[in-house]
Amino acid sequence: MSKHVVLGTPLSNSATKVMLLGSGELGKEVVIALQRLGVEVIAVDRYANAPGHQVAHRAYTIDMTDSDALKSLVEKERPHLIVPEIEALNTDTLAEIEAEGIATVIPTVKAVQLTMNREGIRRLAAETLQLPTSPYAFARSENALRASIDDGIGYPCFIKPTMSSSGKGQSRITQDSEVKAAWDYAASGGRVDQGVVIVEGQIDFDFEITLLTVRAKNEQGEIQTYFCEPIGHRQSKGDYVESWQPQAMSDKALAASQAVAKAITDALGGLGLFGVELFIKGDEVWFSEVSPRPHDTGMVTMCSQRLSEFELHARAILGLPVDVSLTAAGASAVIYGGADSKNLSFYGLEKALAVPNSDVRLFGKPEAFTRRRMGVALATGDHVDAARALAQQVASAVKPQAD
Ligand SMILES: Nc1ncnc2c1ncn2[C@@H]1O[C@H](COP(=O)(O)OP(=O)(O)OP(=O)(O)O)[C@@H](O)[C@H]1O
Ligand SMILES: [Mg+2]
Repeated sequence: MSKHVVLGTPLSNSATKVMLLGSGELGKEVVIALQRLGVEVIAVDRYANAPGHQVAHRAYTIDMTDSDALKSLVEKERPHLIVPEIEALNTDTLAEIEAEGIATVIPTVKAVQLTMNREGIRRLAAETLQLPTSPYAFARSENALRASIDDGIGYPCFIKPTMSSSGKGQSRITQDSEVKAAWDYAASGGRVDQGVVIVEGQIDFDFEITLLTVRAKNEQGEIQTYFCEPIGHRQSKGDYVESWQPQAMSDKALAASQAVAKAITDALGGLGLFGVELFIKGDEVWFSEVSPRPHDTGMVTMCSQRLSEFELHARAILGLPVDVSLTAAGASAVIYGGADSKNLSFYGLEKALAVPNSDVRLFGKPEAFTRRRMGVALATGDHVDAARALAQQVASAVKPQAD
């Protein structure tokens, strides 16, 4: 690549091509951001008509854990950049593709490998980088799990499959009699049943944040780290239901959060936006986990920042400068399917969008489930509390109905 960023014409020999692995609601927004820069986009997912498929130049449905399927698609399409949006990928194949010089993996193959497994990222953060985390242990059997809790993790604690996301297979337990169920649930809820769980002592935090952290080049071509304003969020059953920006916090806690985010993102390397999840109590900060890609709680940035987290990711991976400035206090609230259906309809949008400073995104997922995220409500306000109230009002006005 030349020293300067050059973007070509899509669907021509000069095209700058980006392949998204995973094309859900977050991928869809990345696709749209790339499309606006005239990038040729190839969206891949495990099911047909995924949200990102619907806005890309080309769409493919493959099993991305299958080495042959992944390799042959990349060889056929020859993207310049491969942008993982999900964790269930064959990362050995990605490593091969990069080693052969076919494409660059965003942000780095190492980052994708470490973050797909809670053991990799936790050991990097706590043991290599010595960042503050909850007390933790890894267990390969129910007995080993019980022993680690009794030997110091204590109750309440969280048990999670090492290979899972969005709260799948995760439980919080408060006593010995719940260990068996938690073990069984984690063993069945993981992505690839590895029979390894992490058990974490509960951190008694005041609030939790996502600190969106961008590694991007400045005009001189040097990589710099930029921090968005902290995003506060509320989780239920391991999934986010509401987020807002900025989350008020002490100067010390903010400085400590940025130091943790800088350390972990420096270690992961590459270019792009990361979602660093942190627990905060007073001035104290604990690292929880990190996504090497846009974060679901960061959807609020579609209304609160000049450039959303998706636009920031698109610019950063292309080697372009970013601007992380906040333009207004904002909030997001999740819109669930509320029913299992393959032809869901959304009512109440007139009322929802009559709310001042509001917006909605309906993801266009082909199949709804009662607890599946189908859209998000957005609103800005004079301050975060006002924005939260408005976003809630918008979300509850939208009425999904199975016909
Ligand atoms: N050790 C802990 N102490 C206190 N709360 C915790 C702990 N671990 C998890 N939680 C709570 O559970 C939520 C989900 O945990 P975590 O982020 O590890 O799971 P996840 O499956 O990766 O979720 P997601 O993919 O939505 O980020 C956290 O945001 C936090 O609210
Ligand atoms: Mg999380």
